[in-house]
Amino acid sequence: MSVLTQKETPSPAVMEDFLPINGTDYVELYVSNSKQAAHYYKTAFGYQDYAYKGLETGEKNTESYVLAQDKIRLVLTSPLHSNSEIGRHIDKHGDGVKVIALWVDDATDAWKQTTSRGAISFMEPTVEEDEHGRVVRSGIHTYGEVVHIFVERKDYKGLFLPGFTKWTTTYNPPTVGLKYVDHMVGNVALGRMNYWVKFYEDVMGFKNILTFDDNDISTEYTALMSKVMSSGNGYIKFPINEPAAGKKKSQVEEYLDFYEDEGVQHIAVATDDIVDTVTKLRDRGVEFLRVPSTYYDTILDRVGKIDEDLTPLRELGILIDRDDEGYLLQLFTKPVQSRPTMFFEIIQRKGARSFGKGNFKALFEAIEREQELRGTL
Ligand code: FE2
Repeated sequence: MSVLTQKETPSPAVMEDFLPINGTDYVELYVSNSKQAAHYYKTAFGYQDYAYKGLETGEKNTESYVLAQDKIRLVLTSPLHSNSEIGRHIDKHGDGVKVIALWVDDATDAWKQTTSRGAISFMEPTVEEDEHGRVVRSGIHTYGEVVHIFVERKDYKGLFLPGFTKWTTTYNPPTVGLKYVDHMVGNVALGRMNYWVKFYEDVMGFKNILTFDDNDISTEYTALMSKVMSSGNGYIKFPINEPAAGKKKSQVEEYLDFYEDEGVQHIAVATDDIVDTVTKLRDRGVEFLRVPSTYYDTILDRVGKIDEDLTPLRELGILIDRDDEGYLLQLFTKPVQSRPTMFFEIIQRKGARSFGKGNFKALFEAIEREQELRGTL
């Protein structure tokens, strides 16, 4: 962000961030068994007990477990009866992300700003209160059935949201060092990437900060295109992928086939020590994509000097990439539910603000080997 001196008159584009976002507030997944999913995210990914809503708190229709790790909050919600909207969502998509909640100072204004620019309302500004204060939430639709909920919590001292109680259990595996949501990627249908790019530009005031075309992201068989959208202050980054023509079915098409819609492809979570984090995740049963060990033969020629020893990176299969500003270390899990849809990325940034373009080829070949095994390539 540029620093303005007194004499300069800022252009309207510089002045106006009509949707200031403080960060990711929470991510809510609709899952078929929230109780077991909560156990999985605690055991495998090191999330901690945080908050709960269900029969014991007077909620008759749904059960939600909220798990936290540093700044990340995951909400896992299941229906308690048949014929529910959440049940229909799960039947169509399998487990997946329903809500990307964004922390704002004024949820009413966020809703007005976005709906007046063409967003379809999901939730009109709604005040929820309990003895800890008041929260205002509002929401809009985005790609597929995903929604953005704006959360205003400046007048709230409670743990999470009204209606939730503190959740504690005797089973508390340690964290693995995950810190915050770095970015969340959407897979959209063929020909729809630019539509959603324009949506984020026009409706939410985001900027397209990076573009990858099928020359950047293609292997012998598959291709995709991607544009990265960033909020005005850069706190929120949403890459949007669409499939591109290739000899065989791309990973984005596989996702769209199995999710039966556009949706969230991956959640990238940041760590300050990826070797430690990935060691713990592997020990706790998280499965990662593997690139061939030959990837490491020439890696330092490509990325130059790095602070880390190459040996543990090679052993753990951690990928490295460099841009003008620094380098990054990253690794991708296999899908975390039955359908080959959503997965997680673990990322450590050492100055780089990009997304690992140099790894795309090796990575997509690794994904293709998995697709081959699934018979979906
Ligand atoms: Fe990513």
